[in-house]
Amino acid sequence: MIEAKNLTKKFGNQLVFQDLNFQINQGEFVSLIGPNGSGKTTLIKILMGLEKKTSGTLDFNKKETIGYVPQFRNIDLDYPLSIEQFIRLNLKFTPSFTKRKSNNQKICDILEKTGLTSLKDRPLGLSSGGEKQKAYLAQALLNDPQILILDESTASLDVEVKMQLMDLVAELSHKYHLTVIFITHDYELTKKYTQRVLLFQNKTIKNVNLNNISENMFGKEQ
Ligand SMILES: Nc1ncnc2c1ncn2[C@@H]1O[C@H](COP(=O)(O)OP(=O)(O)OP(=O)(O)O)[C@@H](O)[C@H]1O
Ligand SMILES: [Mg+2]
Repeated sequence: MIEAKNLTKKFGNQLVFQDLNFQINQGEFVSLIGPNGSGKTTLIKILMGLEKKTSGTLDFNKKETIGYVPQFRNIDLDYPLSIEQFIRLNLKFTPSFTKRKSNNQKICDILEKTGLTSLKDRPLGLSSGGEKQKAYLAQALLNDPQILILDESTASLDVEVKMQLMDLVAELSHKYHLTVIFITHDYELTKKYTQRVLLFQNKTIKNVNLNNISENMFGKEQ
């Protein structure tokens, strides 16, 4: 379970959010929504220890690991790694033959789960937007995290590829009881895939019932 109590974040004098109180249960698939600059990415950076909170608490079971697909990546056309090599970056180096063998198995499994087996040798830089997103997802899932965070991972994709990716995440979430935090500006995807909505509004977070969400809560896509 993830739990925020009176969590506040300022950058210098700028208040980003104040007194956030919410819980996310194990295995839940929630959307985190709100306008540009409302603090969505900042909140998950605090969760991952990449940014400091100003006050309050944000706790989760530290035995749980987090897989993260960040909002922006710049992969040049001549990026030197293949899809498989890119996913492998998330493995820890080990001199042990047995561990290397089990790592190879892990890679095969995740390529299969994400539908990338036949694309594994394709240079990442030359892959399509959807293929890249699958590779990012595969890398984030490689070490069997209990929590998966998708920061607008579907924003630049066409509708069909968006749905494919979300179907896959929903299936994995269901099968492995994976907690998913989906940061998005997409009303349709939120309605279709997530169970609950956390909305940033007026510098705080509100729980919104899925039946009560409206398009104007989602802010603008960048
Ligand atoms: N390292 C930083 N230093 C100073 N200000 C920052 C920093 N990171 C973020 N901010 C500011 O904090 C606010 C929240 O930013 P954040 O990236 O969390 O928004 P967001 O909700 O993810 O927006 P978007 O929908 O555009 O991705 C913004 O005003 C941003 O400019
Ligand atoms: Mg953001």
